[in-house]
Amino acid sequence: MLIEGVGRREIPKVKDDHEANLLAEMLVVRPGDKVFEIGVENRWALHDVLEGEAGCELWTNNIIDQHPRPSERFVFGDFSRADDLPAAYFDRVIDVSALHHFGAGIDTDADVRAAAQVARILKPGGEWFLSFNNFGPEYRPWNGPPDYDGCRTYNWREFERRIVQPHFVVVERELHPVGGNTFTCRLRKP
Ligand SMILES: C[S@@+](CC[C@H](N)C(=O)[O-])C[C@H]1O[C@@H](n2cnc3c(N)ncnc32)[C@H](O)[C@@H]1O
Repeated sequence: MLIEGVGRREIPKVKDDHEANLLAEMLVVRPGDKVFEIGVENRWALHDVLEGEAGCELWTNNIIDQHPRPSERFVFGDFSRADDLPAAYFDRVIDVSALHHFGAGIDTDADVRAAAQVARILKPGGEWFLSFNNFGPEYRPWNGPPDYDGCRTYNWREFERRIVQPHFVVVERELHPVGGNTFTCRLRKP
């Protein structure tokens, strides 16, 4: 992770979790940023640096209870319907392997709504760092049974059409030949 004005910080690697490790490398924050993590599971090493040295205000979310630690503000529920979150409040949104699970195979546009929600809660110039572990080449609206373990497969065309073009510009994107097709992306709200 790069903390602007401070320097690059190594986040302890999560064993066999290429995606989280790669997204942590791409992440850029500024001291004091307000950071929101969607679909959080207990990734304490990253949170330690965000809340510690970077001095960020951390909010986290999941549709299932994740027993957050007291320092973070946990927003329980479907992020795509979290309409009471403050508008234009956050500098950064982080999303490790969450968006493509949204909707559980039933609510097919939950990802599109979630992208609009990210755009709403980010300040202008704010950035969304997100990753998937199963990118392209064919778009598949859903893999597996309709539950939270299933997920979409995006290809670039559908990811751009559903998620990027309505709200964001691409700052950086990378497809990594590890752990399947791991995709990391940095989007900015203009
Ligand atoms: C593959 S897990 C990734 C979890 C975590 N980000 C990580 O990297 O370990 C997907 C997560 O998204 C959460 N999720 C699914 N739909 C959601 C929704 N509509 N709103 C918020 N979280 C959701 C699931 O409960 C699950 O914890």
